[in-house]
Amino acid sequence: MAMAGGGKKKLPRTIAIDGPSASGKSSVGHLVAERLGYLFLDTGATYRALTWLALQRSVHLEDEQGLAGLAARVDMKLGPPAAGSCERCTIWVDGEDRTSVLRQPEVEAGVSLVSRVPQVRRAMVAVQRRLASRRKVVMAGRDIGTVVLPNADLKVYLDASPEERARRRQEEMAALGRPFTESDVRQRILRRDAIDSEREDSPLRAAEDAIVINTDGLNQEQVVEKVLTLAEGRS
Ligand code: DC
Repeated sequence: MAMAGGGKKKLPRTIAIDGPSASGKSSVGHLVAERLGYLFLDTGATYRALTWLALQRSVHLEDEQGLAGLAARVDMKLGPPAAGSCERCTIWVDGEDRTSVLRQPEVEAGVSLVSRVPQVRRAMVAVQRRLASRRKVVMAGRDIGTVVLPNADLKVYLDASPEERARRRQEEMAALGRPFTESDVRQRILRRDAIDSEREDSPLRAAEDAIVINTDGLNQEQVVEKVLTLAEGRS
């Protein structure tokens, strides 16, 4: 876009999008990446895939040493989604595409326990940084602006009330054929929020230099447009 003096504003190379469960980070991040021609990386998928692996290998989700050992040895790769997939990323665990396990109820229920373990976080952050070093990326998570990419060129924190997030998540679940009541979904979201924001290592919070967007009352396209406006330096 044109700037005073005729120069062109450089697009950010790395865009961090953080926020609580069901704040729309993944769907918004995916669309922003698509419009800019960037790779989208949903870091929640790495914690979910590790949770699945722990359940497969019968590692107890409170066994920090066991989880740390798995995290240190696993080979994880993230890439663009397969055509027609409702996920925003494909994830390979030790060379196998495991994208289909990410939304399993047992994974959903256990992932907050796994993602609070410091050695697990260190290993997953290393995977995430390696992926981000290769291309222009939009990366979504809880600690991207604060820990994973503290020098990200643009940091956005998406927020929304628990009621709004429960409504959105319930719609997503119903579309996947898993109907839950809104109050049930709201309870789960509040429980996840509490664990994610009260854990000692890298708790969920907005980076000091993040731009906070409250998405209550905004539709997805409006939020995408706001992020693109920030990325492109439009006013
Ligand atoms: O975004 P999500 O619902 O897929 O995240 C799954 C879990 O992983 C969630 O409980 C928080 C955790 N997580 C995290 O601690 N740090 C990240 N960067 C991404 C997710």
